[in-house]
Amino acid sequence: MKKILVTGADGMLGTDLVRHLRKGPHIVLATTIRSLDITDRDQVRRVLLSRRPGVVIHTAAYTAVDRAETERELCMAVNHEGTKNIALSCREIGAELIYISTDYVFDGKKRTPYVETDTPRPINVYGESKWLGEEAVRTLVERHKICRSSWLIGLHGVGGMNFVEKILHAASAGNVLRVVDDQIGRPTFTFDFALLLERVMGLHERGIFHLTNTGECSWYDLARCVLEMSGRSDVEIVPVSSAEYPAAARRPANSLLNSPRLESLGISPLRHWREALRDYFIRRKKSGKKD
Ligand SMILES: NC(=O)c1ccc[n+]([C@@H]2O[C@H](COP(=O)([O-])OP(=O)(O)OC[C@H]3O[C@@H](n4cnc5c(N)ncnc54)[C@H](OP(=O)(O)O)[C@@H]3O)[C@@H](O)[C@H]2O)c1
Repeated sequence: MKKILVTGADGMLGTDLVRHLRKGPHIVLATTIRSLDITDRDQVRRVLLSRRPGVVIHTAAYTAVDRAETERELCMAVNHEGTKNIALSCREIGAELIYISTDYVFDGKKRTPYVETDTPRPINVYGESKWLGEEAVRTLVERHKICRSSWLIGLHGVGGMNFVEKILHAASAGNVLRVVDDQIGRPTFTFDFALLLERVMGLHERGIFHLTNTGECSWYDLARCVLEMSGRSDVEIVPVSSAEYPAAARRPANSLLNSPRLESLGISPLRHWREALRDYFIRRKKSGKKD
């Protein structure tokens, strides 16, 4: 049994993670920005010293990828300085730190999937801030794990929006959908990620791990599958290039993360993203979520 403190517990990932961990034998301390603002170094220190978790799972982050291009200071304050605050207090109390990171630390120019030993080269402010967060964790806390994932999709969290919900919403609004076809990745469902993270948490090994569902697709492929599975194949959908879909932040063309390290440790990979998407729709129906 472990005493685990989770930051960002009301976020999309944090919500599913806390729900999953609470089914096990662990004591789970769920914190949100209201009880633990990671940019407040004194508060971080006070909370960690008084609660004394054995493990901190740090999911809290500034995640507005496009807005980060104009809110660089805020993004860095949360993802770099905030992570540094968490790392310093973990070091002080001897807690293990599990940091959730992203495919966006890479530039996407590699022709094959990224592995744990590849060198990050972020191409947007958010990616840079998460990479600096990784560096803070790596240099400040000996007992650490950096768990990168990609294209996260979950039912819960503030606002309840994710790529699947955006597609369903646009389909209901009767819009012709224009979806990017030249960025490929691995959609990863937060309820599956939570299962794998718990297994990784039990490992003695430290360092970087890649945790994603399997299979690969473009955003366009994913959107088409969402329409098919939701019975909306009638909706017109057009593939477009990233250049035709201007966004403030550049995004990696290749976001595929492989995990030879987990394979070598005998940990079986997560299911294919299509299967997880089917499960998402079942869970969505049960939760009573509307289009
Ligand atoms: N979404 C993806 O596709 C993706 C992919 C790979 C990795 N990741 C990583 O996975 C983690 C979870 O992402 P997510 O998509 O679940 O994000 P999310 O839904 O935006 O959740 C992030 C949480 O962090 C909280 N937060 C923001 N500033 C904070 C602060 N100063 N102190 C404490 N909490 C703060 C947010 O609270 P408020 O909402 O109240 O601000 C929110 O609850 C992040 O570390 C992210 O970088 C995400």
